[in-house]
Amino acid sequence: MSILTLPGLIDPHVHLRDPGQTHKEDFYSGTSAALAGGYTTVLDMPNNAEPITTLERLEAKIASAKKQTVADIGFNFGTLGDNFDEFTKVIDKVSGLKIYMNVTTGNFKIDANKLIEIYKAWPGSKTILLHAEDDVSEIVLKTLAAVPKKTHICHVSSQAELEFVMRAKEKGLPISCGVTPHHLFLTDKDAERLGPYGHMKPFLKSAKDQKFLWDHLDAVDLIESDHAPHTKEEKDSAEPPFGVPGLETTLPLMLTAQAEGKLTQKQLLEKLHSNPAKIFGLVTDDTTKVEVDMSERTIKNEELLTKCGWSPFAGRRVVGKVQAVYLHGSKVFEDGKVLAQPGSGQIIA
Ligand code: NCD
Ligand code: ZN
Repeated sequence: MSILTLPGLIDPHVHLRDPGQTHKEDFYSGTSAALAGGYTTVLDMPNNAEPITTLERLEAKIASAKKQTVADIGFNFGTLGDNFDEFTKVIDKVSGLKIYMNVTTGNFKIDANKLIEIYKAWPGSKTILLHAEDDVSEIVLKTLAAVPKKTHICHVSSQAELEFVMRAKEKGLPISCGVTPHHLFLTDKDAERLGPYGHMKPFLKSAKDQKFLWDHLDAVDLIESDHAPHTKEEKDSAEPPFGVPGLETTLPLMLTAQAEGKLTQKQLLEKLHSNPAKIFGLVTDDTTKVEVDMSERTIKNEELLTKCGWSPFAGRRVVGKVQAVYLHGSKVFEDGKVLAQPGSGQIIA
C-alpha cells in the first residue's frame, strides 16, 4: 500500500460535549476520533450544556480533559457579554474567545449591540472566533474597524459570507476564516436526502455558493471540521439539533479532492496544519505526524470512533485512511485502535 506522511493536523473548531452531554461524545471518544482522522490538536468550543463562561466551569472542563484526552487539546472561552470579570482570570488558560451571533445548538446567542463591548473587554491578543452569518456581517465590520482585534470567522458557507471576509482583508483588518468539509462537499440538494443528518448551522447552501468557496480557496485560511456530534435518537426526534460530526472524514475528503485536482497538497497542508497553528499561536513538533494509507475505500458508520456513530458522508468513496499517528514521538494510534493512555495528551493554553 502507498503511505503518505503528513504533520499532525490541527482542528480549531470541535464540540466534544464534555462535561454535560457525554452521551453524545466525551474527551476520550472525541480525541480518539481526532486521532482516527489524523488530528493531533483540537480546540474545543464552549457551548456545553452549561456554557463555559466562568473560570470555575473552565477548570472543571480542563480537569475532565486531563483525565481522558489522547490528543493535544485547547479550549475556547465563551461569553454572553456579562462575564468580563472572568476574562482576565482565564486568559492564560484558553486559546481564544468564541462569540455566537446567530442561533445554533445551546442558548448562546449574544445581543449584537454588545459585540463592541465584548471586543473592548477581551484582553491581550488571543483570537476572537465569531459565529457570524451573512445577516450580521455589517456589525462585525464596524466592530472590527473600531476595535481591530484578531478575528476568525467560523464556517463561512456562502458566496456572500466569503466576499465579506475578502472585503475585510482588503481593508487590512486582522481577519481570517474557515470553511467546513460539509459546506465544501454537500449542498442543499444533499440536505433534502439527508434530512436531520444534514441539518446544521450554517445550513447547507446552493451548488453556486459551494463553487464560489472552491473557486476562492486561497481566501479561505483553514478547514475546520465543526465536529458537532448528536445521537441518532436526537437527530430522529421531532426537533433535531443542529450539527454533524466531522473529525474522521475531513482528511479523506480533502485528500480525495486533492486527487481530483481541486486543490494542491501545499494548500491542504496550509489549511489543515500551518494556518491553524499560526492563527491560534500553536507550537508544532516534527515528531508529531500521521501516516495515511492512500488506498480507495468507502466511509462506513461502523468504523467510526465518535460516540454518535454516524456520518453524513457514510457510503462515499474516498482515498486515504489514517494508518498510524505519532504524538510527540510516541505511537498513539494504529490500525483503527488508540494505543495512548487516557490523559496522555497535552493541555494547551
Ligand atoms: C454546533 C453544535 O452542535 O454544538 N452545531 C452546528 O450546527 N454547527 C454549534 C455550532 O458550531 O454552531
Ligand atoms: Zn461549531
